[in-house]
Amino acid sequence: MRIAPEAPRGRARVDPASVDAVLTDTRGRAMRDLRISVTDRCTFRCVYCMPKDVYGRGHAFLPRSDVLSFEEITRVARVAVAHGIEKIRLTGGEPLLRRDLPVLVEQLSALTTPVGHPVDLAMTTNGALLARHAARLHEAGLRRVTVSLDSLDDATFMAMNDVGFPVAKVLRGIDAAREAGLGPVKVNMVVKRGHNDQDIVPMARHFAGTGVVLRFIEYMDVGTTNGWRLEHVVPSAEVVERIDAVMPLEPVAPQYPGETSSRWRYRDGSGEIGVISSVTQAFCHACTRARISTDGTLFTCLFATGGHDLRGLIRGGASDAELADAMSGIWRGRTDRYSEARGAAEPLGAPGHRIEMSYIGG
Ligand code: GTP
Ligand code: 5AD
Ligand code: SF4
Ligand code: SF4
Repeated sequence: MRIAPEAPRGRARVDPASVDAVLTDTRGRAMRDLRISVTDRCTFRCVYCMPKDVYGRGHAFLPRSDVLSFEEITRVARVAVAHGIEKIRLTGGEPLLRRDLPVLVEQLSALTTPVGHPVDLAMTTNGALLARHAARLHEAGLRRVTVSLDSLDDATFMAMNDVGFPVAKVLRGIDAAREAGLGPVKVNMVVKRGHNDQDIVPMARHFAGTGVVLRFIEYMDVGTTNGWRLEHVVPSAEVVERIDAVMPLEPVAPQYPGETSSRWRYRDGSGEIGVISSVTQAFCHACTRARISTDGTLFTCLFATGGHDLRGLIRGGASDAELADAMSGIWRGRTDRYSEARGAAEPLGAPGHRIEMSYIGG
């Protein structure tokens, strides 16, 4: 174990770059990011995530007794942070539907890494309830939010969220987040050809110069319910080309290894955009993300067909050390590289069993 050169005298600090101190999987990838889904419910029915024919009135969401409590979530997170997690992202479904979420934010924001840094606590939300909650979430210790918004045109957006939710309310949520200091706010636009690709340039124009970082996400074959087809994917290269033709762009170096998004900036200085190319340029080689579903199952890939039951361990009386052992063992054995295998046309396993994004979180 190396000692960091900037260690204050008398207090040895573990250098996070020290290889033997880091928990890694079979491909040498560290466990750095934890995405926690706090509810499997959402008020939207985005066609690429929770299509109405599957998530209609008859759909059974998780009963309350299956859902991890705030104390259980915080316990898992504390153990994970002690073993390398530096960033925590709250997701859903829609995380703001979870009652008293700021209480959980307070608990998680108090966690510190072994070298004494606070965790980087962020949330991905559809923005519908953000205007109401932004200030309180910031007070509770949330640092950043990412808001999903697929179009600026009401008809298109309503067709994509499939519940008639208007654009203006999401924009109000974004403004409230910025005013509350939850920045830099990122906006995620899932691009689906023939549905909202005509909005790529208008979205870029709208957010240029505002400080909001707009990211274009390739429509993914996550889960099994969204009827994904390759012809619906608009490759990121095309997104960049279309924007560059009207607002010239240049590439920006990644902020950290394993960043999902490739960054570009406007040559005129009016800010940056990102493209997330999980279909055309998979980033599995640097994927440091672990996910915990609403019911306490640990997944090591967004496209996993199975997870590991942490809730059973917790409710069965496991100690922190036992929990840590279980998580470390799972991570050490991790081999996932779904998106790269898809790109290489390798067999992808049984699609019928893939988990859904609304259950595991974006
Ligand atoms: P920050 O850099 O902390 O802002 O996080 P991020 O870039 O990971 O942001 P975010 O959580 O908003 O992720 C953006 C989108 O990228 C998600 O909504 C997913 O669509 C996609 N994504 C995130 N993680 C993965 C992953 O592990 N695998 C794949 N294939 N896609 C992912
Ligand atoms: N493809 C790409 N991104 C998706 N998301 C949900 N489903 C998909 C999909 N099929 C993303 C949305 C949202 C986040 C929660 O997950 O961008 O921002
Ligand atoms: Fe809800 Fe987000 Fe899924 Fe849309 S993408 S249905 S807002 S969880
Ligand atoms: Fe990570 Fe799996 Fe996504 Fe690859 S497909 S980047 S391994 S979550």
